[in-house]
Amino acid sequence: MAEPDLAVDVGGGLTLRNPVIAASGTFGYGLEFAGVTDLTAIGAIVVKGLSLEPHRGHPAPRILETAGGLLNAIGLQNVGVRAFVEEKLPLLREIGTPIVANCWGHVPEEFAEVGARLADADGLAAVELNVSCPNKREWGRIIATDPDLTRQVVRAVRARCRLPLWVKLSPNVTDITSIARVAEEEGADAVSLVNTFVGLAVDLETRRPVLTNGTGGLSGPAIKPIALRMVHDTARAVKIPVIGMGGIGDADDALEFLLVGARAVQVGTASFVDPRATERIAAGIAAGLRRRGYADVNQWIGTLRAPPGR
Ligand SMILES: Cc1cc2nc3c(=O)[nH]c(=O)nc-3n(C[C@H](O)[C@H](O)[C@H](O)COP(=O)(O)O)c2cc1C
Repeated sequence: MAEPDLAVDVGGGLTLRNPVIAASGTFGYGLEFAGVTDLTAIGAIVVKGLSLEPHRGHPAPRILETAGGLLNAIGLQNVGVRAFVEEKLPLLREIGTPIVANCWGHVPEEFAEVGARLADADGLAAVELNVSCPNKREWGRIIATDPDLTRQVVRAVRARCRLPLWVKLSPNVTDITSIARVAEEEGADAVSLVNTFVGLAVDLETRRPVLTNGTGGLSGPAIKPIALRMVHDTARAVKIPVIGMGGIGDADDALEFLLVGARAVQVGTASFVDPRATERIAAGIAAGLRRRGYADVNQWIGTLRAPPGR
């Protein structure tokens, strides 16, 4: 059987060669992985969350391994949008793989300013709005846990950013589908989910939290079943494409997210375990589809059947 067609339409006119995307904050600015893994073998690269000015993030300790997961409170350290556009983007453009800029601000206007500067830059495929970082005390709360605040931010950015717009959702809510609908109403081209779950680790000797931020965001295999349920529910609640993530470590994990309705997937923490994880998962999806007789990944996406006995 010929190689299955892996191309997916992720909204806003953007088509990816395959559905595997490197997740923000776990793949640097992409360039760090050149020479380690084949950057042309994946669908897209999402870079570390960018802000108007360079940002140092939180002091160490800010990352900790947990059972089946990773707890981090990096605090959105980044070089700032200007250095990204001037120094990183020209090199990234040469790779030929779509580059997605993850970004954030302190208030809606700042989000919009960053979005506008990214839209003016040459060579980006999309912008992903990080309204779901659990480690930004300055926000007062996680933006994507509040429908009104989410609406304000997406509206402000949409008005100034002509690039395909992905809104990244927080799992730290009772009903993620209601926030997804807000993003869709305000003109998002896709929603991506999930960001990390708020967690806590404590030190018995010092009787203090381990991380300087206190809490952190949990990612990795430990969160996969919850993320999968949220992606499943969201894919049924909105018409725009859903980009799924949370604990994906191999091709079978990715195929599960696609089966429940994700149009594409992002791979995060797994790249710390195996820097070639994204490339390996893309190849594994092709093999998994071929083995099951599928000629096109779109014939697989969203075809979950009813539970046994129903
Ligand atoms: C160290 C680290 C840094 C992250 N930084 C960002 C970020 O800057 N922006 C963002 O939207 N998500 C960020 N994330 C969240 C991931 O992109 C992803 O949503 C989350 O880790 C769940 O996927 P995973 O289980 O495959 O890692 C970060 C995650 C980790 C572990």
